[in-house]
Amino acid sequence: MSLDPALETILPRTAGATAQGHLTLGGCDAVDLAREFGTPLYAFDEVELREGAREWLTAFRSSYPETTVVYAAKAYLGRAVAALFAEEGLSLDVASGGELAVARAASFPMERVYVHGNNKSPQELREALAAGVGHVVVDNFREAVLLNEIAAGMGKRQPVLLRVSPNVDPHTHQHITTGTLDSKFGVPIATGQAEEAVQSLASSPGLELAGLHAHIGSQIFEVEPFQQTCKILIEFAARLKHRHRFPLLSLGGGFAAQYLRDAPAPSRAEYAEAIVLTLKESCEAYELPPPRLVVEPGRSLVARAGVALYSVGARKEIPGVRTYVAVDGGMADNVRPALYGAAYEAVVANRLNEEGPRERVTIAGKYCESGDILVRDADLPKLWAEDVLAIPVAGAYSLPLASNYNASLRPAVVFVKDGRARLVRRRETYDDLLRCEIDNGSAD
Ligand code: LLP
Repeated sequence: MSLDPALETILPRTAGATAQGHLTLGGCDAVDLAREFGTPLYAFDEVELREGAREWLTAFRSSYPETTVVYAAKAYLGRAVAALFAEEGLSLDVASGGELAVARAASFPMERVYVHGNNKSPQELREALAAGVGHVVVDNFREAVLLNEIAAGMGKRQPVLLRVSPNVDPHTHQHITTGTLDSKFGVPIATGQAEEAVQSLASSPGLELAGLHAHIGSQIFEVEPFQQTCKILIEFAARLKHRHRFPLLSLGGGFAAQYLRDAPAPSRAEYAEAIVLTLKESCEAYELPPPRLVVEPGRSLVARAGVALYSVGARKEIPGVRTYVAVDGGMADNVRPALYGAAYEAVVANRLNEEGPRERVTIAGKYCESGDILVRDADLPKLWAEDVLAIPVAGAYSLPLASNYNASLRPAVVFVKDGRARLVRRRETYDDLLRCEIDNGSAD
């Protein structure tokens, strides 16, 4: 049986259907995965992850060989994914000491690591330098002073990028907009502070100013905000070119993923083409040598590779109002609908391509919040308890934002490939919930 072509755009590229109408991922029957590993379960398709990485590299390097593609680990991090992207030749953006620790545990090459964060602690900076990270992306004046002291104290000269705030509106959700003037991230260009920060970094003996960085937001469907950012950075670099060189230019991440079958995002090639064109034109116009280009896709490398599997449970029909169908996960494993109003689709994994009557239902989670809704108004075949519900495009920012709300257990994760599934993270247990509790006797 073949997949509905409309679904192909939101499922991993290896997805298919068995003769009895079960969804397959990486050659594995999704219903068997749910039975074997339990639900909620996050399944990542290795081929989709690898091909995505290769597509990003090719998209840029075919027209601009001097490009580094950095995976933004905050979208989803575990040892397996870090090791896989290391093999594919990507670099890594870590945003905390914790992400750095996971990267180290995966033996990710430290010289390919970029350390981010708007309030890195002295300890995080020391850990990063001791680990030998390639670049630290300095976000503010205090960090510049602190890092210089730490580097000098360790007898190092640490390559850094300066994160600037370019004042570009990427037209995305307010919570994931980062490059406007009123933002906690980066040093603003418009106020003259970025120029001051460049002077300060350039005169810091423990630091080597390697370039500029900007990240304007996430889930950006247009290419123009990236082009605008690129122009602003080049114009800034050109203004200072007689005093400073910026061999590296990072435009951050933010490339959109397609979550819904009727909401396509630009292809990797379209983003790359637009950015490279602007970069080449701007460098020519300002007579600047072309820098090494750095891009930091997070979501777009993992979103489509990940599918969340749930078991269907309770059902509540309110005549004339709405039918709720509850699954055994929800906002504890995916808070994005509650936090950003993010929209997902749902697929009945054990009854794909089923003809016959459909009903409009709202897929609710199992947690004690009315806002714990995964999908509003899905048109699906009538759902029964024990059906397996798949939510596609669940690979980015679900597990990293997952919580133990209601003392729930965070889900297991499997990687699927060639009909085989390997468990890369086990489901939490009640013991895990108690792991950090300290038993120091009764209160009296
Ligand atoms: N680089 C930097 C410095 C970032 O802060 C981010 C994401 C990225 C790269 C990767 O952006 P991406 O390509 O994934 O859009 N939790 C939100 C998204 C927050 C993004 C934070 N920064 C969500 O679930 O939509």
